[in-house]
Amino acid sequence: MQITFRDAATASPSRLVARIVEQDRLPGGLEPVLAEGIRAARFTGKPGQIFEGFVEREGRVVRLAFAGIGAAGEDRVAALEQAGGVLAARYLTSGEEILTLDTTGSGLTAHETAAVLTGITLRSWRHDAYRTRLKEEQKPSLKEVIVLGAPDSDGTAEQAWSEAKALVNGVMFTRELVAEPANVIYPESFVERCLARFEGTGAELVVLTEAEMRELGMGALLGVSQGSAREARLLAIKWLGGEEGAKPLLFVGKGVTFDTGGISIKPAAGMEDMKWDMGGAGAVAGAMLALAGRKAKANVIGVCGLVENMPDGLAQRPGDVVKTMSGQTVEVINTDAEGRLVLCDAITWAQREFSPAAIVDLATLTGAMIIALGNEHGGVFSNDDALAEELLAAGKATGEKLWRFPLSPAYDKLIDSPIADMKNVGPRGAGSITAAQFIQRFVENGTPWAHCDIAGMVWADKPGTTWDKGATGYGVRLLDQLVRTKLES
Ligand code: BES
Ligand code: MN
Ligand code: ZN
Repeated sequence: MQITFRDAATASPSRLVARIVEQDRLPGGLEPVLAEGIRAARFTGKPGQIFEGFVEREGRVVRLAFAGIGAAGEDRVAALEQAGGVLAARYLTSGEEILTLDTTGSGLTAHETAAVLTGITLRSWRHDAYRTRLKEEQKPSLKEVIVLGAPDSDGTAEQAWSEAKALVNGVMFTRELVAEPANVIYPESFVERCLARFEGTGAELVVLTEAEMRELGMGALLGVSQGSAREARLLAIKWLGGEEGAKPLLFVGKGVTFDTGGISIKPAAGMEDMKWDMGGAGAVAGAMLALAGRKAKANVIGVCGLVENMPDGLAQRPGDVVKTMSGQTVEVINTDAEGRLVLCDAITWAQREFSPAAIVDLATLTGAMIIALGNEHGGVFSNDDALAEELLAAGKATGEKLWRFPLSPAYDKLIDSPIADMKNVGPRGAGSITAAQFIQRFVENGTPWAHCDIAGMVWADKPGTTWDKGATGYGVRLLDQLVRTKLES
């Protein structure tokens, strides 16, 4: 979507003109037929509401759209994004090519205008690369948004948008990685996409090959990968925009590019969903792109543990014992509990390499998380109340909501093994918590750490406010907001 900014006094608007409307505060001076139409449609400007009417102005037909944002209140930014999303959903394939967003006299600040643009752009994102038989009317027609308005006290909308756009780009990059099928995105190609996308951003990328990981003793991560013809990779994306020498914040993402379950193979029905088992790593990569794109004044490192979990003749077996990079040993009871085996070695390596001030990992780790929270919240588990609170607040502020779960020695005991230091699964109950306890065993020196189980959040079966069905890009805004509040304010 191309976004351009014009001076209301000189620009001639497109046929389609949209305005943002607060509840019960329609712009004055409307044509009687339009005012009557609005009453007839019971449009009052509630959040998510939209009204469309055609009028003749100066001899031209104008297609007017009013998008509601509700009454002035605390959720205004969310309502503005939603209004943008509703406009995009309505007009993306409408045949209209240009939407003029007329903010004159609307009272919108520059940042509020940018929020509408965020909603429009995010809701317009689609992955049509493999759809070669789309009919003309199914293809997106909307290509440009022209913003009409004047500079506000908080700067111009153009300035506000240039910052917001970095975040939007990060979310879209994550969606792209998540939406691609597993024959296209596998560990090496995930790295390639990142290398291409980060070029010129000032971020530094470091890649470990399987041989290097073997040298480092990452037996858990490599055990998962050993049944796959694809080579594993560990990718670190470094953005050091903060104070020199200040310890970085570390993000770690589960990047299982396809999860068959391995020898503990999953049922066929729905297995295709496991192409998005790299959603944690995807969110980390997208968040890093956002931080680099907006030149965040913070030191942040994102690490992606990238493997494919397959069941060939060399695959690891249930009962195998592997040695992790930390030295701790693991009895692999279920090869489908592979995410924790990937994360533990990624976290050990990153801690020793980067001495982080705090660690946040993101993973589509357990089906049990979806049973508990559905698709409304991700689960957060932490050894540090302050970090947990910061994440919960970031979730509230961005709409990428989290809910905290407990950790305790009693849960931890459930993954003790008779033959090794631990096993990779506990009993049936508390499956998301025992998974978190497993990861906690690899956190060194009491470093503040939080684990986000986002299994229910990375893929949507139905459209939402700022996403269509499919990849949501969940996690990017959450991590970006954490960086803003924790390191940049
Ligand atoms: N990637 C899955 C978790 C998952 C399942 C995410 C469904 C999204 C949708 C993970 O690797 C897995 O298979 N977990 C097992 C753990 C079990 C074997 C202890 C699960 O949840 O069934
Ligand atoms: Mn699995
Ligand atoms: Zn998995």
